[in-house]
Amino acid sequence: MLNIGILGAGTVGTGVINVLHQKSLEFENKIGSPIKVKSIAVKNIEKHKSSFSDNLIFTDKPENVVNDPEIDIIVELIGGEYPAKDLIIQAIKNGKHIVTANKEVISKHGYEIFNLAKKMGVLVYIEGSVAGGIPIIQTLKRDLIANKVNSLMGIINGTTNYILTEMAQKKRDFSEVLQEAQKLGYAEADPTSDIEAYDATYKLSIIVSLIFGNHVKVEEIYREGIDKISIRDIEYAQKLGYTIKLLAIAKHHDDGSYEARVHPTMINSEHPLASVNGAFNAIWLNGDCVGDFMLYGKGAGQLPTTSAVVADILNLAIDIKAKNILASSESHDYIKIAPIEKITSKYYVRLSTADQPGVMGIIGRDLGLSEVSINSLWQANTGEDTAEIVLITHPVTEANMNKAINLLKSSEGIKQINSLIRVE
Ligand code: HSE
Repeated sequence: MLNIGILGAGTVGTGVINVLHQKSLEFENKIGSPIKVKSIAVKNIEKHKSSFSDNLIFTDKPENVVNDPEIDIIVELIGGEYPAKDLIIQAIKNGKHIVTANKEVISKHGYEIFNLAKKMGVLVYIEGSVAGGIPIIQTLKRDLIANKVNSLMGIINGTTNYILTEMAQKKRDFSEVLQEAQKLGYAEADPTSDIEAYDATYKLSIIVSLIFGNHVKVEEIYREGIDKISIRDIEYAQKLGYTIKLLAIAKHHDDGSYEARVHPTMINSEHPLASVNGAFNAIWLNGDCVGDFMLYGKGAGQLPTTSAVVADILNLAIDIKAKNILASSESHDYIKIAPIEKITSKYYVRLSTADQPGVMGIIGRDLGLSEVSINSLWQANTGEDTAEIVLITHPVTEANMNKAINLLKSSEGIKQINSLIRVE
């Protein structure tokens, strides 16, 4: 018999408590021993007592749960950085195994948590922290263990993917779609973490710690949100055979350097990620043995995240019983992510210029001086004396692209740089 203590009974906590109760016999048959929810820490005991039929023990003192000597596994579902991080650390010090869906805590404090867990001989399972119902953590840790993952691209934030999909399919502005998403409850009242890509960056930092085999500092990951994406760029992308997605990208280069970044990206509309629409998430990767590979599913929501958290509880029970060495074999160093200036990418640039002789020459000169080579270029007239020029470059370094943009900004005939989007 394994006793578990749950911290937090919000949306996911409620799902976990209900599924463990409803499927208790099924789970006991699968893992060979019963799992008992011994106690649950919540803010408001009375509110929760009335919502669960079972004979559950509630407390408003989470420290009582993490200090209970009879509890084997702590399931942390409070969310946010504090007090969740301190409770996890205390539970590990008390010799308890951990299941958590907390991306912020694992992203910022994974190094400390996994090192301490290793010292204490306990396991920390984090499937629910990335992409909800998609089993990306176990897949990377176990099923793809034979691979060197050369390249990974993920749509790992449902809110922004919903907004970009609505903009592309219904030709509606960013702010209009965001307001509607908030009304419908898809986007948070404060959408900063999703829109400005903090959420996706936390998740990417966790994914890369698995594919690169070491921890990374989340602040080294380049981050750019979707608030500057316009309908005009989406329409140009469609005409040119591309789709704009907020992508989390990681690459391990042959020279040993590591890349990790999150930003709006134009990808070929034939790429499998281009057809991931609405609030769905997907992670595509290329492994040296498996080749191209993709997982697709619901990245958030009560039952999809419950699926991940309950899987962790059951896998943990199996691994404790089997004394599974693989389960605790994570590496524990930090590696450096290459700064964004060193990254090489193709770029889409949209600029407004005077519609007069010599402007193309100026653009060619400024790009040439910056070692930026043009792959393709289009011009449309947008006013009596204004032209809109859209171009896609060959792969260039970010540093050279920035140099080119700075030169263009101060050149005669160039009115405005409207957008700059990386192309994969
Ligand atoms: N807010 C996230 C999303 C879900 O929109 O994908 C929780 O990580």
